[in-house]
Amino acid sequence: MTATDFDIPTLRARRTNKWHKFPADVLPAWVADMDFGVAPPITAALQRLTDKQEYGYAAREGALAAAFARRMASRFNWHTDLKDVVAIGDLVQASFSAVMAFSEPGESVLLQLPSYPPFMLAIQDTGRRLIANPMKDDGVCWRLDLDSYDAAPDPTARMMIFCHPQNPTGRAYNRTELEAVAAFAIRHNLIVVSDEIHADIVYPGGVHIPLASLSPEIAARTITITSATKSFNIPALRCAVMHFGAPALKAHFEKRVPSRLLGSPAVTGVDATVAGWDEGQPWLDEILAQLKANRDWLAATIAAELPGVTLRLPEATYLAWLDCRGLEIPGSAGQFFLDHAKVGLNFGETFGAQYPGFARLNFATPAPVLKEIVGRMVDAVRQR
Ligand SMILES: Cc1ncc(COP(=O)(O)O)c(C=O)c1O
Repeated sequence: MTATDFDIPTLRARRTNKWHKFPADVLPAWVADMDFGVAPPITAALQRLTDKQEYGYAAREGALAAAFARRMASRFNWHTDLKDVVAIGDLVQASFSAVMAFSEPGESVLLQLPSYPPFMLAIQDTGRRLIANPMKDDGVCWRLDLDSYDAAPDPTARMMIFCHPQNPTGRAYNRTELEAVAAFAIRHNLIVVSDEIHADIVYPGGVHIPLASLSPEIAARTITITSATKSFNIPALRCAVMHFGAPALKAHFEKRVPSRLLGSPAVTGVDATVAGWDEGQPWLDEILAQLKANRDWLAATIAAELPGVTLRLPEATYLAWLDCRGLEIPGSAGQFFLDHAKVGLNFGETFGAQYPGFARLNFATPAPVLKEIVGRMVDAVRQR
């Protein structure tokens, strides 16, 4: 079996949320994990743990930070210092804890919409106010709209949660756009949480540039949060990194959020992450080729078979943000496809209340499964 060769019964037998949220007649294409395997070095690392029955308190001080530093340097030419890193269980926890550390209840946090839903919760569930900064579809791709905030800034804004590459639009911002973001954050004196979890999944023509790598000025106000879990398909192993772009940022965070409260990732997550980052690239290259083929097939098929649905070609991620407004479905497009196509997408309205006409499709699945998903959607639209 190759890395991408899994059939539907095998996938459904996985005890994952992806394959068990919906009834058995629904094909899932929602949450961001891949219907593929993992890199052989990850399997070997986990095998080593079980073979040696090595579950005692870990002595891996700095192993994750060192692997992070090697990975950022080799892949993104970003040179980081081990002592600026905090190991954490997952990115959602990282975003919540950063919001709590760098703002007070009642203060505001800026967020581009449409947005990965937990970012909105990180702001609202902690008693902060969300300042929505909607992106704009310019007919070619989704663009940031920083000017509209410049025109009416909020004096209580302390932070921005920035997602780069962006989930759900699949934008991989270029250097010019990132420099504008950096200047914007400095101009408005905002601390930035830069979620770069999708950085490895950028298609040919794009490059990932870590926001904090642009200049010491933007680094000094940026907390980069990332992990190997998206690109190496190990989200349940719960292991992530927070990188603070200046010692003062980390000191402030540690004062506000006790490390004992955060806990630490398990050895399974650490060993798998180190194996993926250090030795998993040949496997990831194979996956990226499959994802690109899926993306291109999906874009061509939507253009040919689903008039009324618009997809701006994702430059990154394995997520397709489908603008279904042209179908003129009353209510939620995601609900329509669930009811009539038996396809489980992410509903657009969970990425911002104004997006019920959108849905997010995860195309990280074997080509025959993707064909079945899209075929069901085409049939549902034709039979309306
Ligand atoms: C942009 C983004 N950040 C964070 C996460 C989740 O990360 P974690 O599982 O580490 O909380 C996801 C998962 O889809 C994501 O797309």
